[in-house]
Amino acid sequence: ADGDPGKGEALYRSCKACHQIGAGALNGVGPHLDALFGRTAGSLDGFRYSSAMREMGADGLVWDERTLDAYLEKPQTMIPGTRMSFRGMPDPEARTRLIAYLKQASAA
Ligand code: HEM
Repeated sequence: ADGDPGKGEALYRSCKACHQIGAGALNGVGPHLDALFGRTAGSLDGFRYSSAMREMGADGLVWDERTLDAYLEKPQTMIPGTRMSFRGMPDPEARTRLIAYLKQASAA
């Protein structure tokens, strides 16, 4: 199925250089992705976000399937000025799979 988290795990390899996910995950180049769903954008203590990301959070951006889909498609388009150096994932099916994996792994 499109949302198969097993297939999403392989796609997550392109995020691993910068992000950790799951219980005990730490901030690194990027903020940790534990308990991501329902989290306000740019809100982790101890991570130095761009002002663009902090402002999006202050304006009410919360991470869920829909908002992650938009950000991961083209980070710089959804959040101009984001510090995340990732050019984006254009394939909608790949994003759906990745997001299913993130949902499972970030709650684990
Ligand atoms: C921010 C996911 C790839 C570096 C974020 C956020 C998410 C995310 C959800 C916002 C977190 C928050 O608000 O606390 C992902 C996923 C990736 C990916 C799923 C793979 C598809 C990368 C890569 C890098 C990176 C490859 C490093 C080259 C960052 C940085 C931020 C960030 C620096 C903070 C952005 C800012 O403050 O504007 N990422 N990311 N990410 N990510 Fe990624």
